Amino acid sequence: MTEATIEAYYLEDRTFPPPDDFRKQALASDDSLYKEAEADWQGFWAHQARELLTWFDDFESVLEWDLPFAKWFQDGTLNVSYNCVDRHVEAGRGDKVAYYWEGEPGDTREVTYADLLDEVSRFANVLKSLGVQRGDRVAIYMPMIPELPVAMLACARIGAPHSVVFGGFSADALRGRIIDAEAKVLITADGGWRRGAAVPLKVNADDALEGTETIEHVVVVRRTEEDVPFTEGRDRWWHELMQEADADCAPERMGAEDLLYLLYTSGTTAKPKGIMHTTGGYLTHVAFTHKYVFDLHPDTDVYWCAADIGWVTGHSYIVYGPLANGATSVIYEGSPDTPGKDRLWAIAEKYGVTILYTAPTAIRTFMKWGTEFPESHDLSKLRLLGSVGEPINPEAWVWYWQHIGGGRCPVVDTWWQTETGGIMISPLPGVTTLKPGSATFPLPAIGAEVVDDNGNKVERGGGYLTLTRPWPGMLRGIYGDPERYKETYWSRFEGRYFAGDGCKIDDDGYFWLLGRVDDVMNISGHRVSTTEVESSLVDDSRVAEAAVVGAKDETTGQAIIAYVTVRGNVEATDGLGEELRESVAKKIGKFGRPKTIIFTDDLPKTRSGKIMRRLLKDVAEGRDLGDTTTLADPAVVDEIKRRAEQSPQED
Ligand code: WT7
Repeated sequence: MTEATIEAYYLEDRTFPPPDDFRKQALASDDSLYKEAEADWQGFWAHQARELLTWFDDFESVLEWDLPFAKWFQDGTLNVSYNCVDRHVEAGRGDKVAYYWEGEPGDTREVTYADLLDEVSRFANVLKSLGVQRGDRVAIYMPMIPELPVAMLACARIGAPHSVVFGGFSADALRGRIIDAEAKVLITADGGWRRGAAVPLKVNADDALEGTETIEHVVVVRRTEEDVPFTEGRDRWWHELMQEADADCAPERMGAEDLLYLLYTSGTTAKPKGIMHTTGGYLTHVAFTHKYVFDLHPDTDVYWCAADIGWVTGHSYIVYGPLANGATSVIYEGSPDTPGKDRLWAIAEKYGVTILYTAPTAIRTFMKWGTEFPESHDLSKLRLLGSVGEPINPEAWVWYWQHIGGGRCPVVDTWWQTETGGIMISPLPGVTTLKPGSATFPLPAIGAEVVDDNGNKVERGGGYLTLTRPWPGMLRGIYGDPERYKETYWSRFEGRYFAGDGCKIDDDGYFWLLGRVDDVMNISGHRVSTTEVESSLVDDSRVAEAAVVGAKDETTGQAIIAYVTVRGNVEATDGLGEELRESVAKKIGKFGRPKTIIFTDDLPKTRSGKIMRRLLKDVAEGRDLGDTTTLADPAVVDEIKRRAEQSPQED
């Protein structure tokens, strides 16, 4: 099939029913899950909780709902690490591979479920020996190495909530998260490999710890073997502690509503929110969705979610969901273009990957690189593809379907958020007829509706996506700030959770996600708040004012464009722009670095003084902006002025 045919089909609004051979072997191949859930949605989740998980004490209470506070399976007890590890070993599957791990330099490790049990138990004992008790928070700042899931599971085993901070975050970002969570121990590594270079995690971690008061010990994994600073007494080597540790550690009996982890995410203010996820409901949700959305056949599938464990996608679909289901997964440490642009396809071929889950931004990058890279590898074992993180444009969807999936693999476009814990809107690949670019329908038992400005339900057409029922993986709040939780998610539309996304429902009832409607940008599938970037810009004493917008970008979905006005005596130079971009990267992380900084004399404002971001966004989207600083370009300034004059002055 040629490219041209595909384009033509797309114009015809082509639909993709499940292929016959896929449907025949699928775990769900008719609407029975939907029917069961519609008859009794709470009973449905109770059924899944009992079927998919092993409980120490069964629950009687399914849901206590005191809007917006939910308690799922309240009186049940269980342990997440027991469910993810021990029970598979007890069932005789200890030799089964949990993770095929591949480092960027090409080193590899096979971690079986028995290995996991040994390492998780040992590290749980290590944490105890360092004084970590049930309820204490543990911060984790690590590269994509097997010790990362081991550390998370060890925390879960002893009931110490973890707070994983993505290794691409800066020292400042890590510090803020450690302080907010009052973490007692930090787990990190000397570094990790990324594009052939060692990322200096331990150096950043030391920097982050300046000004924190709660960290008693830092555990350091040796990965890159570079020399790192070491503070005697506080810092300990992972491998030395593990050698001495006992390999037996009984899993704690945790309440279903005990905190499993915190994960910080951006909102509309500068301060990141510590999203709280608990034990029984979360694990039920991720196990259920991982099993049915990916049609997981644990004995034959090799599953690969190519996200970083530091984001929620990795928590739910590299660690907790796949392990709860006894899957075999791939973990890759590094960059997709190292040493060549075919690295992912080489890995997929080598391990015989059957299910691949990645992000639209990655898919668009692969499109740009060209088809010769996937074509140079045998990808015939693939049978299902997934997408997450931002809307996938139909062109990228069809490219993924054709050039990666060989035209035979369903593509599941999965909508969810850090806050939802697991997938909410997505096809079931053996059931749903796909439309490229649509996440299709809410999963069984999930209540999702589109509403207008007044909160009235929209049956067909565009509006705001809301969730109408509690779900087991839902956030239980923002750490330390219940008011902000109510205000952020439950105040815009009465009785509804507002996700922050626009959405359209087409004539067939399909959901089409339209991106964020608040001041949150989506850069390569990662949420970055405009305020956060603005605050870090005006932090520089030479900057008077800054306005940041996310403008459409072919590869990353959105790109960060910053409009900056400097103080009177300061000269707006190329060099200053470069410095500012670097300082944002340092304060937030590289992904927060503005792609372009535009110096202007003035920012367009409403009469009440609100910056007219919408206009700045239009200006940015109408221009071809490079990866640079644009010096006080008179054309831009004129355009902003002209358009500010023409726009209605909304207050
Ligand atoms: C935001 C959540 C979900 C894990 C990764 C991101 C956008 C996510 C889709 C999708 C359209 C999507 C939304 C959402 N988003 N998946 N399939 N189609 N948009 O987690 O950082 O919490 O971001 O990502 O805008 O609100 P996150």
